[in-house]
Amino acid sequence: MCYWNLKLGFPFQRIPHAMGIVLCRVWRKVVRPGDIVIDATCGNGHDTLELAKMVCADNASGYVYAFDVQEDALANSSYLLDQHLDSVQRKRVKLLRLCHSQLEKIVGETAVRLVTFNLGYLPGGDHTVITNVDTTIQALQASSNVLQPGGLISVIAYVGHSGGREEFEAVMNFAANLPTREWICSQHEWVNRPLSPRLILMCKR
Ligand SMILES: C[S@@+](CC[C@H](N)C(=O)[O-])C[C@H]1O[C@@H](n2cnc3c(N)ncnc32)[C@H](O)[C@@H]1O
Repeated sequence: MCYWNLKLGFPFQRIPHAMGIVLCRVWRKVVRPGDIVIDATCGNGHDTLELAKMVCADNASGYVYAFDVQEDALANSSYLLDQHLDSVQRKRVKLLRLCHSQLEKIVGETAVRLVTFNLGYLPGGDHTVITNVDTTIQALQASSNVLQPGGLISVIAYVGHSGGREEFEAVMNFAANLPTREWICSQHEWVNRPLSPRLILMCKR
């Protein structure tokens, strides 16, 4: 599929990395039409779009909250959603220019099925605007509070850029310390590619 990059002004191909394909399959096992889900790092909107299609399938009135701190990211996401969703589905996605650490204030008591993070910087955008350990951990804590039983927190972390490995290790530490009675956590990576994206899954029982 071809998308228009508003900032760079040229069309680009989205080639999902293999971990993204695995993750999408996991989402499909968890997310149901009508669910409320959160994209904590909406970026160019590809994950937001996939999730919107899942929660709005069969004319269900699911809802996606999508957070990003960058105006460019929200503009790109809005453009992508306008292209691929009908007007009813489009109204089921709320784009928020807000740090994901604030997510609990936005969703309140709502029972959320999935919170997803794709850490790092905006592809094709400003590489200095990047997720960081402090707010990522605050957002994970908030996500664990709003998640309903049977729900999932998914994180894709990158270890190749400066600060990326520390952020990955902080996420791993967060997951490893969730109580065993309530959570099942796992980590996935391609063993013959040392810098491949890491996928961390936290399933609430
Ligand atoms: C790897 S990109 C996400 C890609 C996106 N999932 C997609 O499908 O295009 C990471 C995004 O996180 C955003 N970000 C950085 N710090 C953030 C924060 N504290 N809260 C929310 N988003 C943040 C960046 O602006 C960037 O757009």
